Amino acid sequence: MHNPEILELFREALDSPLFKAATAAADRLGNPVFVIGGFVRDVILGRPGNDIDFTVVGNGETFARLLAEELGVTSPVNVFQNFGTAHFTYGPCQIEIVGARKESYRRNSRKPLVENGSLEDDQLRRDFTINAMAIQLNSNHFGKWQDPFSGLKDLASGIIRTPRDPDVTYSDDPLRIMRAIRFACQLGFTIEEQSYLAIRNNAHRLGIVSVERITDELNKIILAPKPSTGFMMMFETGVLEKIFPQFVALKGAEYVDGKGHKDNFLHTLEVLDKLALSSDNLWLRWAALLHDIAKPLTKRFDPKSGWTFHGHEFRGAKMVPLIFRNLKLPMNEKMRYVQKLVLLHLRPIVLAEEEVTDSAVRRLLFDAGDDIDDLMMLCEADITSKNPEKVRKYLGNFRIVRQKLVEIEEKDRLRNWQPPVSGELIMETFGIPPSVEVGIIKTAIREAILDGIIPNAFDAAYTLMLEEGSKLGLSKKNEP
Ligand code: CTP
Repeated sequence: MHNPEILELFREALDSPLFKAATAAADRLGNPVFVIGGFVRDVILGRPGNDIDFTVVGNGETFARLLAEELGVTSPVNVFQNFGTAHFTYGPCQIEIVGARKESYRRNSRKPLVENGSLEDDQLRRDFTINAMAIQLNSNHFGKWQDPFSGLKDLASGIIRTPRDPDVTYSDDPLRIMRAIRFACQLGFTIEEQSYLAIRNNAHRLGIVSVERITDELNKIILAPKPSTGFMMMFETGVLEKIFPQFVALKGAEYVDGKGHKDNFLHTLEVLDKLALSSDNLWLRWAALLHDIAKPLTKRFDPKSGWTFHGHEFRGAKMVPLIFRNLKLPMNEKMRYVQKLVLLHLRPIVLAEEEVTDSAVRRLLFDAGDDIDDLMMLCEADITSKNPEKVRKYLGNFRIVRQKLVEIEEKDRLRNWQPPVSGELIMETFGIPPSVEVGIIKTAIREAILDGIIPNAFDAAYTLMLEEGSKLGLSKKNEP
């Protein structure tokens, strides 16, 4: 079947040198060749990408070499004999070629046993109908639309459906569980009912998928426009319990004497969604996810003051490295950034609740450094109260905090603070070796600057250093 409306969407892509070369290579090969998968889906969605998958009835490797030759590609064509796939790079594009195949799976592995098959076999073994649409490229059938599982219809109605029995699709390759939820969340689609049930039945099989791949999908869910929808799906299907149990522990609200606390799972997702409206920073979104992670551990009920979560920011910051390690997230400055935001997430709100003093703002600026703007964004998103009066008050106070942050930064330049008097200078001036005294003097200078007793400037710090030194019985030996 030729589908003129669909072809119109592909006109620009199919007119490009890449697809012209693909047609020439397909004609030389003499076997049917199709563009298939994510590229086809994304052109229809109006977001064409640079990853292009071809499927060839017959030998994929031969087609890959012919195509590379047609394109004048000099970089190597990588052939993965075991998988029957070939790959090369063409400008910004990643080209992947696979021989049309049937797949059968063993219980304990995502790696299928493969045998040659027809185009339809190849479409059937794919994850979702929206990822199984194909267009033929050989000139005698150019533009032939191949969509035996009605992917186009599902794309139009926003449905994630598997070409075959979903129990088979998800059990064969459980990574598809994560992909289904990720696509549904990214695209605002619904997972068809039988599929949803099959995901629930097969969630335990995620155990055979590598953590890196699971986390890769989890990050894509976190980066979606409304991540909470993905988290709700992961929660309901038992996926979240399997991959990120600490987060599930936030679920629920306990009541004592009729006093309850908020459901921190729902609260956290609300914070994440709010933040997602203003930032695409994955690590800031992770900080939102983890900001209250230690609440279940620190929860206490006090008959007078009700529910408390004292110290959850400290315990939470301590949990960050463990969670990052378990999920194979980077253990570098990204992790330290998340840890810092979790640790500091209450500071602006405490500040805004009380009087906003210069010294408190100076301390916040000193502790948060360059991440102060991200911290403020997180804290504003953290206000999920349904009481409009409270919200107005907090946001008003945050405005004052922000204003003061700008004023104080301009005046004191504390963002990336370097003490105006160094430890070396202290040692040199008093003629002393590295010692406790050096630390005492440095701390006194820092505290005086943060409290606004002296300005953040050399002369004032030097004078204070001499005063503090003399208090310790030290006298000046050398001029600076
Ligand atoms: N595929 C599959 N099962 C998987 C992964 C991929 O059936 N577990 C098939 C799908 O047909 C998919 C194609 O292989 O469209 C290419 O996969 P990939 O490049 O990983 O994903 P895309 O669908 O292109 O989407 P994205 O780039 O957003 O991951």
